Amino acid sequence: MDKELKMDQNTITGIIGSGAMGSGIGQVAAMAGHKVVIYDNNTASLDKAKASLQSTLAKLEEKGKIVSAAEIMGRLTFAPEIGALAPCGLIIEAIVERLEVKKAVFAEVEALVSDTCILASNTSSLSITSIAAACKNPARVMGLHFFNPAPLMALVEVIPAIQTDLVLLAEAKALIGAWGKTAVLAKDTPGFIVNRVARPFYSEAIRIYEEGIADMATIDWAMTTIGGFRMGPFTLMDYIGHDVNYVVTETVFTSFFFDPRYKPSFSQKRLLEAGWLGRKSGRGFYNYAEGVTQPQPDTDDYKGKIIVDRILAMLINEAADALYLNVASAADLETAMTKGVNYPKGLLSWCNEAGLSTCLATLDALYDQYHEDRYRASVILRKYVAENKEFIF
Ligand SMILES: NC(=O)c1ccc[n+]([C@@H]2O[C@H](COP(=O)([O-])OP(=O)(O)OC[C@H]3O[C@@H](n4cnc5c(N)ncnc54)[C@H](O)[C@@H]3O)[C@@H](O)[C@H]2O)c1
Repeated sequence: MDKELKMDQNTITGIIGSGAMGSGIGQVAAMAGHKVVIYDNNTASLDKAKASLQSTLAKLEEKGKIVSAAEIMGRLTFAPEIGALAPCGLIIEAIVERLEVKKAVFAEVEALVSDTCILASNTSSLSITSIAAACKNPARVMGLHFFNPAPLMALVEVIPAIQTDLVLLAEAKALIGAWGKTAVLAKDTPGFIVNRVARPFYSEAIRIYEEGIADMATIDWAMTTIGGFRMGPFTLMDYIGHDVNYVVTETVFTSFFFDPRYKPSFSQKRLLEAGWLGRKSGRGFYNYAEGVTQPQPDTDDYKGKIIVDRILAMLINEAADALYLNVASAADLETAMTKGVNYPKGLLSWCNEAGLSTCLATLDALYDQYHEDRYRASVILRKYVAENKEFIF
């Protein structure tokens, strides 16, 4: 690379897209002291972002969490023209999740900025490599995947495309650290770490429900009360919204060349088709209309433990396989699941605690019962059990 690509506190940060993620990331950068330019091609969205940031920062000032909302607002510019991004040294794109639109925007913005500007995408599910390929200098492109809401969630996945100049990774991690966040490194593979490893939390819960082994309320009860998760899978899917959660599952499934492990469900697809998107539409798996009595769980501990063990074994298998395939280090896998989706424990330490042979036995029993590829245990789990090893961080 001819010119040094650098990002530090003085870097003017550009954000493309002023929606939920763009405005949140803009807030994080401005609170960390950067001048921030937020560009959106929809002025209504820009106005909304400005008003909402003003109100959020005012509340933070009231609570004494920041000294001056006005000072931070003063660092933020809201621009309806892409040309306003020209002076930026780092640009984070957070627009609509469509590859062709993202590629066009990356090509357009690259022509505006200096040769040393770093270009990042906040995509949840698209290939960073294919976005980078839209640029003349793909070495300056990477993924910086924040979680929603960006100001509150500690995790950022740093994803190099295969073309990315690896020198940038240390800088990106340092910058994310300076923004008060924790960076983990993920290979450019579908769902990166969190959106891949977390899939069974939803899909295995739905599978248990579809088979009639337990109802939603019982599965949610088991996963929270016995499993220690903050929300049960059905409550969480309703909270995320089926338009978002189903689409991530479908994208991951398609991107993995239809690996049955990631197969979406008809139950969730039908909710989407009906417009039962979850909390935001008043109905999803649960009905949130006023006065509706919520289903009560069957609080049988034995049944609850079977549910938790099955979903947990599938989650552990996914984490183990991601380690086996070098998607991320063991330590980053643990950090990602505890900080990105607030799991009570890292999945690999959970596996060590439960016993690798116990987890393998659960998976093998499921495989024997169903004869479905979905339940195949990761090679690393089998190998470690044979060698009497544990996961090391
Ligand atoms: N919402 C989440 O939970 C979440 C979490 C992590 C990552 N992401 C990713 O972040 C990105 C944005 O998601 P979001 O939830 O903030 O979306 P959003 O719909 O809230 O906001 C997208 C914004 O981009 C603007 N936009 C669309 N096309 C544009 C273009 N060509 N040029 C300029 N602006 C354009 C829209 O006007 C809108 O304001 C997506 O890639 C998504 O996958 C979302």
